[in-house]
Amino acid sequence: MKPLERKTRLEALLLGFQDIWRPQPFKIETPEWCTDYPALTAELLALDDLNVERLSTDNPASIGFLAGHMPELAELAGLIDLPFLDPDGSRTGKEDDRLFTDIPGRKQAQILAYADAIGEPAAPVLEWCAGKGHLGRLLAHRWQRPVASLEIDATLCAAGEHLARRTKADAIQHFIHADALEHQSARHLTGRHAIALHACGDLHTRLVTEAVARNSPALDLVPCCYYRTVAEPYVPMSGGQLTLSRDDLHLAVTETVTASPRLQRRSRQALAWKLAWLELRRQLIGEDGYRSFPSVQETWLRGDFSAFAVRMAERAAIDLRPDHDDLTRFEALGHARAARMLRLQLPRLAFRRALEVWLVMDMAVYLEQNGYRVEVTTFCPRDLTPRNLLLSARRM
Ligand SMILES: C[S@@+](CC[C@H](N)C(=O)[O-])C[C@H]1O[C@@H](n2cnc3c(N)ncnc32)[C@H](O)[C@@H]1O
Repeated sequence: MKPLERKTRLEALLLGFQDIWRPQPFKIETPEWCTDYPALTAELLALDDLNVERLSTDNPASIGFLAGHMPELAELAGLIDLPFLDPDGSRTGKEDDRLFTDIPGRKQAQILAYADAIGEPAAPVLEWCAGKGHLGRLLAHRWQRPVASLEIDATLCAAGEHLARRTKADAIQHFIHADALEHQSARHLTGRHAIALHACGDLHTRLVTEAVARNSPALDLVPCCYYRTVAEPYVPMSGGQLTLSRDDLHLAVTETVTASPRLQRRSRQALAWKLAWLELRRQLIGEDGYRSFPSVQETWLRGDFSAFAVRMAERAAIDLRPDHDDLTRFEALGHARAARMLRLQLPRLAFRRALEVWLVMDMAVYLEQNGYRVEVTTFCPRDLTPRNLLLSARRM
């Protein structure tokens, strides 16, 4: 399926069901859709913990569950299922092991999968937001092509230069210490095959628009952290009706990874305590409605609930006695609200990959509109990195 068709169909579903995925049950105890879908609400609230966990982590399963109540959603599963690139593996494992010392195992597997997926660069390479330039170094070695690695952090540039020297790649890989968002940086894209692995928000959208402006011959981009943008809302670059708030952009990268039972218990307790605090604050200061929740220090979540509540109250300059009679009741209320929230957020979670795929298709269609042939694939398995969508564009 072409990017435009995929984007259009996803957009129609996302717009049609925005009342389901936009409201956040952490902030709104009972989203309005519960009134329109009483049977779904009842079924969700009756789920046991095991099924909540399963549906939170298994996207196709949660779409299937939802489609039982909203049949139009059945097509969502196909729309988010992008071809998996399974290179023949002829290159993998051919590199000298010394190239990979100092690269954590998971990152090593990611850059190998990426390099296998893109094949031979179409021109000298520009590595955008390069970090230590591990990917660039691998491509320089593999294809003996010049690589320029652009990175804002001087320490990472120095570390990358050191690694290039140590692996004898310094004759073909060099670092550009620069801010990718500065207009000047775009000139490096001229005549270069641009690559980027895990460039966040504005950094990846800027790469796409500047690659077009500079007529780059090729671009391979793996985006991440879509919410790291200065401007809000996100307005589609290729045109269209759907706009996304920063909260919506966060949903695109929400992961509920299966954690150990101990970690699961801890994160469940943290959620319950935060919700309990919101209820308590409402009672103490008579404030209705949700206010943004500032981040909480890990150590505050280790003791007991009353110590946590007192700290939260101090921070908010609200008077609270540690022996407040009601604290046990509020803690229990927090646990009940957490159980409800985890169930009522399942329909929202079913849309997270759809949002991510739509965001990537938006860039893909923009590139097509500007004379590129584009493919979007999955370049590695999810357990290597959940940000595994690769957008490949070649100038026609
Ligand atoms: C998630 S890391 C990815 C690094 C590398 N591509 C990789 O996959 O290992 C993002 C990198 O972008 C760099 N970065 C952040 N803002 C930047 C900017 N404005 N200009 C250039 N690089 C930037 C960070 O310092 C960091 O090294």
